[in-house]
Amino acid sequence: MENILVVGSLNADLVVRAPRFPQPGETISGEDLQVFPGGKGANQAVAAVRLGAKVSMLGRVGRDTFGDFLLDNLKANHVNTTLIQRDDASTGTAIIVVDADGQNSIVLSPGANGKVSPSDVESASFSTFSLLLLQLEIPTPTVLRAAQLARQNGVRVLLNPAPAKELPDELIALADFIVPNETELSLLTGTQVNDVSSAEAAAKKLLERGAQNVIVTLGSKGALIAAKDFTRHIPSYQVNVVDTTAAGDAFIGGFAVELIGRSGGSLTPADSLENASYAKHIEKAVRYACACGALACTKFGAQPSLPNRFEVEEFRARH
Ligand code: RIB
Repeated sequence: MENILVVGSLNADLVVRAPRFPQPGETISGEDLQVFPGGKGANQAVAAVRLGAKVSMLGRVGRDTFGDFLLDNLKANHVNTTLIQRDDASTGTAIIVVDADGQNSIVLSPGANGKVSPSDVESASFSTFSLLLLQLEIPTPTVLRAAQLARQNGVRVLLNPAPAKELPDELIALADFIVPNETELSLLTGTQVNDVSSAEAAAKKLLERGAQNVIVTLGSKGALIAAKDFTRHIPSYQVNVVDTTAAGDAFIGGFAVELIGRSGGSLTPADSLENASYAKHIEKAVRYACACGALACTKFGAQPSLPNRFEVEEFRARH
């Protein structure tokens, strides 16, 4: 049985490392261009597989060489690609600049990702999965439809609202876990989030909008878990940052795998952070996810940086 379904984007990442980001109107020179498999959906699928889950991905790529590249790559990573369609549009592309501090700046050309439709997700057998992973690089009505179908079939929903975008309350309420970073939470709540206490205040606002459980990723500051009558800050690991691209995707993959357990067993509807043993399970999953995110910052490129579970175990034993 496959346990995770990812409905999301696949991108070819065209990456250049440069000393800094160019100013508007300025041209600067960087290093040689590198092409990596990326896209938040595909990254999260690969992250979860490398950590021990069985994963299917639903999405679209073009009938072009980048489409071949991304499909071959997912197959090589043992992600089930039978729900990925070829489209007349070009394969999604991300133009990425990484600066000397490992921070990135990304321009997306969604291409075929923009064609993933509500009827695409209606063809999937949701009931065979335990968990649905969603992000926002495909159209929001498709994300919403996938969340509705998951809920109707008793499948848990983990929504990573990335990149930052306004969302309907209905989608926020359908997610069992919503996992924004500081920028995404700022946009969703209209407040500035830049530390643990502002994250806590903003997470409360998201709970008031109907979110069930919020996990805010705070980069080197760790993560904040927030639910009704529950908040817990989990510190992260300090590492030498080479490239932060896909660190959030590594976090999501790690959290997802620990959430459902490697056996892929379903969660029960009674799971709530008010239950002490469930809260411990979630805290443990977030600690594991922080290690995955930290490790992803230590390597260049999106999918090349996603750790496997032996690397995570070894890293955690050292820290
Ligand atoms: O989250 C990282 C990803 O964002 C990159 O792989 C790029 O494709 C963009 O979608």
